[in-house]
Amino acid sequence: MGLSLYDIVKPLLFSLPTETAHGVGIHSLAAIQGTPVESLLRDRLVVDDDRLSVEAFGQSFPSPVGVAAGFDKNAHVAPALAALGFGHVEVGGVTAERQAGNPRPRMFRLPEDHAIINRMGFNNDGADAIGPRVSEHAAALDVPVGVNIGKSKSAPLETAEDDYLYTYERVSDADFFVVNVSSPNTPGLRDLQNRDRLASILGTLRDAGADPLLVKLSPDLGEGAIEDAIHVVNDLDLDGIVATNTTTRRPASLHSPDASEDGGLSGAPLERHATETVRFVAERTDVPVVGVGGVASAEGAYAKIRAGARVVQLYTGLVYEGPTLARDINRGLLELLERDGFDSVADAVGADL
Ligand code: FNR
Repeated sequence: MGLSLYDIVKPLLFSLPTETAHGVGIHSLAAIQGTPVESLLRDRLVVDDDRLSVEAFGQSFPSPVGVAAGFDKNAHVAPALAALGFGHVEVGGVTAERQAGNPRPRMFRLPEDHAIINRMGFNNDGADAIGPRVSEHAAALDVPVGVNIGKSKSAPLETAEDDYLYTYERVSDADFFVVNVSSPNTPGLRDLQNRDRLASILGTLRDAGADPLLVKLSPDLGEGAIEDAIHVVNDLDLDGIVATNTTTRRPASLHSPDASEDGGLSGAPLERHATETVRFVAERTDVPVVGVGGVASAEGAYAKIRAGARVVQLYTGLVYEGPTLARDINRGLLELLERDGFDSVADAVGADL
């Protein structure tokens, strides 16, 4: 492989603190957005091929590969991300209140492990500010724009419904809604994954009109808890499950000095377990599964698709592989489909089940 621009830029970015580098990435994307450079990138990076398009929860995805929540927390750069070849963008997590998040540093690269640990704590501009951006992007883009809804830190767990509802009402123009009860960085949040609380929160949003409505699960749930969540999804006739969020586990294989930082681990060390969670969920429900965790190549995306994911997402892979990753995955997927005799991505979904 030849030298890419990202081979040159990456050492510069990696010389900066992780969150600063992320800020440079977001600013760069914002700077090209709406300019001729965005069109140039779109021409080069969007892989336009019907075999890549998938339908899920009433939405048409021109590619199965999207951007996971947390990358574009404030919904500033969805158009530029679409121009990089991503088939959807999940913006947020958005909370009802504007939040500063945890003190810095709160995001750590683990280069030896191709991983990140973060304990951002839902830093975001808040639903009032982000809502109009969501409306604008969802209307303008030809890829779905979903929104990840989190809980404000100050909102008591007992009345979390009100907090989620406040946010939903302000971002209701999005193309899909993902309820995040699986971030490890808001105290007590993951307790909302128990059956009764989950049913109450999701039921509240459903009654308010949230459609399509998905729930995002932690990779640290036991099998019984995942089955409970699936029951809630079936009972309420919800539209999909996103598997998975980051893990608080620390595999013994980690080498990087920052491996013992607190927070959620993402990237390569999460990949296998996230894929197994996708498989576990897909074996037990017919609702579409969005597979996320460690995807950084066509092979990785394909493994999740074959395990039952209709759509995949990534965040950490973008940090390590750079802005051509969506194109590379889309091209690679077409080769893998041809190799295995599938007519389309949709045909390969769940092939390993
Ligand atoms: C995240 N992720 C995340 N998830 C979520 O539901 N709401 C959020 O606000 C965030 N924020 C966030 C920030 C940072 C810095 C990271 C690295 C991740 C989790 C993300 O969407 C995804 O589920 C995991 O990162 C696993 O995918 P990757 O990164 O291994 O592709």
